[in-house]
Amino acid sequence: MITYLGTANPGFAPYAMEELRRRIRGTKLSGIAPGETFTFTTGDLEPEPALKDLRRNEPIFLRHLFPIESECEVTGDREEMAARMNAFAADVGERLQGAKTAIQVRKEQNSPFPFSSAEGRDAIAPTVTKLGGEVVAREADWIVSIYASKKKLFMGCSKPSDNLSDWPGGAVRFRKDEGLISRAAFKLLEAERTFNLPLDRFSHALDLGAAPGGWSSVLLERGLKVTAVDPAEMDKSLELHPNLRHIRRNAADVSFAPGSFDLLVCDMSWDPHHTQRIVSELAPAISAGGSGLITLKLMYRKPVQTIQELVEDYSLHFDVRQVKQLFHNREEVTMWVKRK
Ligand SMILES: C[S@@+](CC[C@H](N)C(=O)[O-])C[C@H]1O[C@@H](n2cnc3c(N)ncnc32)[C@H](O)[C@@H]1O
Repeated sequence: MITYLGTANPGFAPYAMEELRRRIRGTKLSGIAPGETFTFTTGDLEPEPALKDLRRNEPIFLRHLFPIESECEVTGDREEMAARMNAFAADVGERLQGAKTAIQVRKEQNSPFPFSSAEGRDAIAPTVTKLGGEVVAREADWIVSIYASKKKLFMGCSKPSDNLSDWPGGAVRFRKDEGLISRAAFKLLEAERTFNLPLDRFSHALDLGAAPGGWSSVLLERGLKVTAVDPAEMDKSLELHPNLRHIRRNAADVSFAPGSFDLLVCDMSWDPHHTQRIVSELAPAISAGGSGLITLKLMYRKPVQTIQELVEDYSLHFDVRQVKQLFHNREEVTMWVKRK
């Protein structure tokens, strides 16, 4: 049996834990940072198949995990904490020989752990290099993960694909210098990566709830023609874009010829069941096999149940491929569908 440290978006750990409880028979769960991090075991399952199943059919709310191979008390003593981390790196030294190694150090708010992420990494980097590893930030062969809670220091070393995300704690960062119109654009960029769905493969997108135009601008940059529907104004910088058509209306009041689009994106700030009805009405406008990326707002008390109901309703017209709470999702999740 292996124990993992799991991370979810703030406030969503209880739902990540609920999902794991349903999927891993006999798993033992224990909260760490309220609402955000927790430990879980592989229970009655063998660790390898348990992990394989989580990778193949990713849970919605579990953003990141790493195996806990060593743990100790957290103190504010720099020398002691550095010695503990270096001892762990030495223990897993064989794996790191000749390997690109990322060192990811995180801590719970108000933990006495005396290092920042960068300082923690710098405290172990010489040991990794001495062991024959090359310290890298991205595209690593191995990730040494350190998480300091208020009480304990958890350490593990794993392959990036086994962590669900190769970002520290699954916190995907994009550079702010990409001329973004709204922060919402990060959601679309993250969805593109998470669902492995290069947007430049599509040619004509329907963007519902498009204003001020963050998602539209990403799609235009990728070379798509975009039809944006939103009663609100689009950003001035997009107004004259030759590949953008803005329809200033409620999405419930528009219609298009069958098969007009091969991509639908929808980030409408509205009740998710209303949104589902509008999107389903417009489904014939999406060509068979076309994709959809849809934000599902979680405005009800039972998010897991809400998602189940929505998946069922969307399934009438779409094949639901994946639902995931992205790092850039707040009180919502993102769904990838394909038109039947
Ligand atoms: C979160 S914003 C979208 C942000 C956008 N994705 C971006 O990247 O800039 C939500 C938008 O949904 C629009 N909206 C809400 N209900 C709508 C409806 N029934 N029809 C069309 N747009 C709607 C709002 O006007 C608002 O501009």
